[in-house]
Amino acid sequence: MKLSIEQIRSEFPILSQTAYGKPLVYFDNAATTQKPVCVIKALSDYYTSLNSNVHRGAHYLSIKASEAYENVRRQIQHFLHAGYAHEIVFTRGTTESINLVAATYGRKFIGVADEIIISHIEHHSNIVPWQMLCEEKGAKLKVIPVFDNGELDFEAFLNLLNERTRLLALTHVSNTLGTIVPVQKYIEAAHQCGVLVLIDGAQAAAHMKIDVQELDCDFYGFSGHKAYGPMGIGVLYGKEKWLNAMPPYQGGGEMILNVSFEKSTYNELPYKFEAGTPNVADAIALGKALEYIGELGVDQIEKREKELLDYLTQRLTEIPDIRIIGTASEKTSIVSFLIGEIHPYDAGTIIDRFGIAVRTGNHCNQPIMDRFGVPGTIRASLAFYNTTEEIDRLIEAIEKVKQMFA
Ligand code: ALA
Repeated sequence: MKLSIEQIRSEFPILSQTAYGKPLVYFDNAATTQKPVCVIKALSDYYTSLNSNVHRGAHYLSIKASEAYENVRRQIQHFLHAGYAHEIVFTRGTTESINLVAATYGRKFIGVADEIIISHIEHHSNIVPWQMLCEEKGAKLKVIPVFDNGELDFEAFLNLLNERTRLLALTHVSNTLGTIVPVQKYIEAAHQCGVLVLIDGAQAAAHMKIDVQELDCDFYGFSGHKAYGPMGIGVLYGKEKWLNAMPPYQGGGEMILNVSFEKSTYNELPYKFEAGTPNVADAIALGKALEYIGELGVDQIEKREKELLDYLTQRLTEIPDIRIIGTASEKTSIVSFLIGEIHPYDAGTIIDRFGIAVRTGNHCNQPIMDRFGVPGTIRASLAFYNTTEEIDRLIEAIEKVKQMFA
């Protein structure tokens, strides 16, 4: 990386605080990433000097705010390598992006006895919207099984595809196991059967290069707050032809062309899907976050996080009684584990007292816990601003946990 780790960490003020009198170690990056100064400043700058409603006023501030908002849309287009800016829809996050597709594409094009394929490693947000749709429409949900190492069974997926399959909704990276799903081959196979593909990119967007045209996915969603941006802003990429074919999501201002009591007509893309006043400040701050990631270099981020993942995995495997859940050959820097028979909540609570933030529980992934027969896991999820010294502190804390339960 161009910058030293000290320089990088100095950009994230939250990392320099203490927790319980100890330097804070933040290993909960899969839940949300921390924000660099430029993102925090972008939020305050917006409300200090730019705040105005977009696309509505012909006055100075509104024009400036609209330009800034639309510039971020173009920036996201380039970040995802999408063909057009109007294929980028702002949402509240990945969950809303998925729900939008379920409520519009799903409601219009999926009917009784049709089939939707998901996988066993999906986050609840890529399970429940499809279940709700299936219940409403009388459609069926099919699930790609997962091997013991956390990789999906591609052959089983091929066997699930049939003439009733309408959609494949698949995660790019498992938020619990860290598995990187080789989505391209799933997309190719689905398309050969005329099946559309939605990719949940919540855990991928900030950690690897995303090229939606190369992937050829039909929809791709991600969240700003997992990519060093603010909470409450997210993105849905959709191919122009599908977005045009889909009915609007919510009704209101901005999404219409004309309104009369007899009939309303709808706006062009992407505004058809953005009813109401949008989250302008957070969109602009997300733009700053993506600029920041771009300056560090996504390939450099990937390289550094891989080094951290390898170091953490190595240190954990040196400890007897540690069980790592998820050992796929391609992983991002997410490690789920258990310490002997110690309940993950107990372990996580003690680790927290060492000033180390890990997540414990089912990680919005109940079916995967059932699949592995565990009540939950301890999950350490790393970002480029973490260090090997912090990993050493986690290892020390785990040793202490073991001693306490010995
Ligand atoms: N989806 C987030 C996580 O995995 C909240 O922790």
